[in-house]
Amino acid sequence: MSDSAQPMGVVLLSGLDDLHGWRATHGGGTRALVPTMGALHAGHAALIARARADLGGDGRVLVSIFVNPRQFAAGEDLARYPRTLAADCRLAAAAGADAVWAPSVADIYPAPADEGGTPSVPTIHAMTVRPDLADRWEAAARPHHFDGVLTVVNRLFEVTQPDLAYFGEKDYQQLVLVTALAAQRFPALQVVPVPTVRDDDGVALSSRNVFLTDDERRQARALPAALGAAATALAAGRPADWVCADVRGRLTKAGLEVDYVAVSPPLLPGFDGAGRLLAAVRCGSVRLLDTRAVGRDERTR
Ligand code: PAF
Repeated sequence: MSDSAQPMGVVLLSGLDDLHGWRATHGGGTRALVPTMGALHAGHAALIARARADLGGDGRVLVSIFVNPRQFAAGEDLARYPRTLAADCRLAAAAGADAVWAPSVADIYPAPADEGGTPSVPTIHAMTVRPDLADRWEAAARPHHFDGVLTVVNRLFEVTQPDLAYFGEKDYQQLVLVTALAAQRFPALQVVPVPTVRDDDGVALSSRNVFLTDDERRQARALPAALGAAATALAAGRPADWVCADVRGRLTKAGLEVDYVAVSPPLLPGFDGAGRLLAAVRCGSVRLLDTRAVGRDERTR
């Protein structure tokens, strides 16, 4: 464990041994995991604060920071993904985390013991977790992305053994897949969805927003605005096809390149209200995702 992390109010753990040592000394109480790729912002702070509030003073909130190479395809932004560990530790501490675990690639994906041996970390395929979501929306735009996400989340769950794990609603398809993964492989683990945090202009917070130019940032506002208009139109009885076409028109007019716009029936029963609006666009060099519940608390989603 790094002593230099102590003044920041959070224990910084690096290798697997660090993690196991920390778990052994802080074994009691409920354990919450907030899995992240770092470059933490107020959206992550909301996940951590929610975990802290759910656990009270007794349990332990662990934030993992790992930029997972397996969920990036060649040509995606793995190399430039922002890495801001010291600031991340400060934010995690302020939001109520007890420890930050920043493993290496070798910690997460250890090489097989023998050359040509079986990899010790199983690949988890979206197709086996939720076949209905394995090749649509984000999965169609980024083939293999969710196999990488599920593989690392499965590994994180195995090594950290949380009772609760917190995921943002913004990455909605990821949330649904991870919820299914937990139901299949970690039945005692509860996946807790946390509402999207937005800037004052409505744009959902994302670590990648730092790459938007000022002009792109202004264009990006069209995405939450279009989903807001869509929610109103759906509530007024407009058919989904009309609404999706209208959203596409608004986004294109704003200069955004539309990847997909969809109205989905509820994918997480008991949580979704009447359904989900989902959209992804390209804004300059950045892909922006957004989502909104339809027919339930449309002011905040
Ligand atoms: O949402 C993210 O930041 C990542 O996809 C996750 C869940 C931490 C897995 O790498």
